[in-house]
Formats: sequence, C-alpha cells, structure tokens
Amino acid sequence: MESKGVSYYVEAGKRAMEWHARYLEMMRQCRFDTIAVHGVYSMQEALDFNQGSTIEPVYLSTSQAYRDSDEMEAALSYQIPTWCYSRIANPSMYYFEGVLALLEGYNSGVETSCIATASGMAAIQSAVDPFLVVDPKKPGQKLNFVATCQLYGGTFQQFAQRKEKDRGIEWRKVCASHDIDEWESLIDENTRFLYGEMPSNPSQGFFDLKKVVELGHKYGLPVIIDSTVATPALLRPLEWGADIVVQSVTKSLATGGTSIAGALISRKNIVSSVDNDEMKANFAGWLKLIPNRDNGTNISPMNAMLAINDIRTLRTRMDLVSRSTMKIAEYLAQHKHVEQVDYLGLPSHPLHKLASEYMFLVDSEFDDLYKTRVNRYGHLMSFRIKGGAKATRTVFDAFQRIYRATDLGRIKSIATIPAISTHQQQGEEARKIADIPSNLIRLCVGAEHPDDIMKDVDQALSTLEGTKVYFTSPEYSAGGASSSKLA
Ligand SMILES: Cc1ncc(COP(=O)(O)O)c(C=O)c1O
Repeated sequence: MESKGVSYYVEAGKRAMEWHARYLEMMRQCRFDTIAVHGVYSMQEALDFNQGSTIEPVYLSTSQAYRDSDEMEAALSYQIPTWCYSRIANPSMYYFEGVLALLEGYNSGVETSCIATASGMAAIQSAVDPFLVVDPKKPGQKLNFVATCQLYGGTFQQFAQRKEKDRGIEWRKVCASHDIDEWESLIDENTRFLYGEMPSNPSQGFFDLKKVVELGHKYGLPVIIDSTVATPALLRPLEWGADIVVQSVTKSLATGGTSIAGALISRKNIVSSVDNDEMKANFAGWLKLIPNRDNGTNISPMNAMLAINDIRTLRTRMDLVSRSTMKIAEYLAQHKHVEQVDYLGLPSHPLHKLASEYMFLVDSEFDDLYKTRVNRYGHLMSFRIKGGAKATRTVFDAFQRIYRATDLGRIKSIATIPAISTHQQQGEEARKIADIPSNLIRLCVGAEHPDDIMKDVDQALSTLEGTKVYFTSPEYSAGGASSSKLA
C-alpha cells in the first residue's frame, strides 16, 4: 500500500476543523436552550458518522484506531483533530466539553474552551496548579494566592492542606469578599491568582465580580470563579471578564445524581504573570493536551453522556427550582423556630442588591412567560434553627421527604448540616470565619412541588414542639445495601 503521507491527513484535518468552526459559529447564533439541547452534535455528524443516532453516542472505548502510520503520526503530534486515548479525549467527552464551552461563553462575545474532569475538585486543581510555579528567575520565591474564605469544604481543604500545608504556598483569605479593598490589601508580587465562589456553598457569599476582575487584571492576575451553585443558566462569570470558571458538574448541571463530574471553562488569552504563552492563549485546550494528559484527571465517557442529558433542560429547571426555593425561603424567614435564613433572593439578605446585578435567568427576555429580564438565585439556601445544635439535629432528623445527604443540586430535595458533614474537616475556627455555625441547615430544593417540601419542613420544625414524626423508617431495609452495615 502506497503511503499517503502525514501532510495528506493534516490537510484533511484542516478541512474538518474549518467545517467545525463554521458549525460552532452557527450554534453561537442560537439561544441558550437550543445550545443546551443540541450542543456541538450536528445532524450531519449523526448521519455521516453515527448511524443516524439522534442522541450523542457514548463511545465506551479506551482508544482510537488509525488508518495507517501517517495518520497515527499526525494524530499523536496533535496536527489533526483526534482523540487518541480516553485519558486525553474521547468523542463523548468532546460533546460534553463543547456544549459547556458554548453555554459558559453565551453572550460574552469571547471565544471559550472547556476541559472535562473526573470531579469538581479535579477541575479546581487543574485551574489553580499551573499558576503555582516558581518564577525561574526568582529561585526560592514564596508563592501565594488570594481566595475567599467562604468556600465549599473540599475546596477549603485542598487550599489549606494540599497547597498550604503540603507545598508551603500561602492562601491569603478574603473574609469580607464584597470589600474590594480587602482583596487588594492581600496582593503582592508573589500572588498568582484571585479565586472565589459565587454564590458560596453554603453561606451564600457573593462579591462584585466586575471589580475583582478589574483588580486582578490591574496586577496581571487571572480571576478564577467557582460558579457551581449558579450554573451558566443564572451567571456566566466569563461575560463579566473572569478568566476561568470551574464547575462541579456533579451538582445542578447533572441534576440526576448518577455520577461525579467536573469542568473547567476558560476564555482565550487569559491574564497571568506565568511565562507560558501557550498556556495563556488557550488555557483549557493546553491543559487537556499537556498537563492533564500527564496527570490523568479526565472524565469517563459514560459520565459525560449522563451530564449531557441533564444539561439539555438546565435553564427551565433552574428557573423552576429557584422559584420554589424563593417560596420556601420566604416561608422560613417568618417561622418562629428559625433564627436566620441565608438566601440571596430574599431582599433582607445583605448581599441581595449586589447579587441582583449579576444573577438573571438567561434569556428570560425572550421567554413568553416573562418577556423581561428576571432575577433568579438558584436552589441552594440555608437556615439556622433557634435553640442551637441539638434543636437543629432534631429538625434535621425529622425530614421525611428531604434526603439527609452531603450533596446538592439534585432533582430531589436534599439537606445537610455542613458543620458535621461537608465543612466538618476544616475545623471550628475556619467555620467561624466562613460563618458556618452548628445550627445551620443547608437545603437544596429539588423539582418536587414546593408545597410538599414546605409541608416536610413544617412538620420537621414542629417536632421542636413535641409533635411526633408521622412516618419512621425501619432501621435497615431487608436485603438492601444499608443492611450490610449491620452485618
Ligand atoms: C461549590 C462547589 N465546588 C466544588 C465542589 C466539588 O465538586 P465534586 O464533588 O464534583 O468534586 C463542590 C461539591 O460539593 C461544591 O459544592
């Protein structure tokens, strides 16, 4: 067989990339819901390559085969579009990354790219580690980064233990994250990035992103935002100038609750003082082909596909659950056994006005139901019980419909007490500065009818007055997984 030559495949690859760029441009003209439903999977791709499958296929294959050694060489030197090996890429991951890049970049006017990861924590590590490298011209440099102290407990641990304790990289904590002067006072020539969660889990911390971006860029620092709680249906930090967004896809994006997944979405040409032009030009693309190839943090194709299916209805779902959460927050705010409700949607919340400048239901102005821009604040809220930790456990233990689990973003309502679960390991002192007391219940409202969730909350609160729980479950289920715990 006569060799076609590497250049034959490179030319064919170029034509494929041009076609893909035109298709992406066409998708960018669509509304959010259309992008969420179709993503980057086209009818042409279905008919020509996937036996007409209307739904993106799951490619459960570790590797890609090549026609000959020329194609293999072109592929492995990244000269043609390829997926090689599922630790690096895979068609199902590609569909997932494509749709998220478009959704996070929606209306931003900036080109975006995405890398999927095995979890939200892997996305966070992928986002921050490339900046934590010592400048070769400054050996012995003591690096630091500036991040809000109100963070998901796992992120808190990654920063406090894996960065600070293990590697000696200082985490400078912003405690009043809405105070831009506090952010600025922590920056020096060894700072590598600014980081925050918007809104934060569970305390509903929030800050003025435009100002933080302005500040970061003034000092040549990238701004990294964890926007898990909002999802791109309610907030798109890249539109406001942020450089990188991380998502725990495990949560509201993949609401079905079947798998753990994460993603990192970056704009092209990010700001950074690290001397690496390739990294800055296309951060997510560079991560995918180089560091994460070596680190092996990729998502599985099956999990990517499960997430794609949930993302299709993201906007309408976030609208529904936000409205239900608002109802429940309003109800709790006037309840005699509740000391405080933390929900950005409540006008009484100190950060309500600020959050209202950023959190909108995407495309509500094109929705016949609203015809105007409407604020939505997501489905994570928390409330504090009068009577301390003991009373809080009494209420928590009495939930009948709301699951007790360390999770959020589910289609089913879920609650936890962060001080004994998600934020337990960071310790009392760190919980104090992050405002996570032991009487705080975090509630993530699902897509059930809100009346039924309200009923459950109400009966649970009434147990503080001695009312008996109306339905108690057996200690273990016959033959079920929980019975094995007793064996
Ligand atoms: C805001 C936020 N970021 C990141 C994570 C970590 O995500 P994962 O559990 O997918 O690793 C979580 C998990 O709860 C979270 O709530």
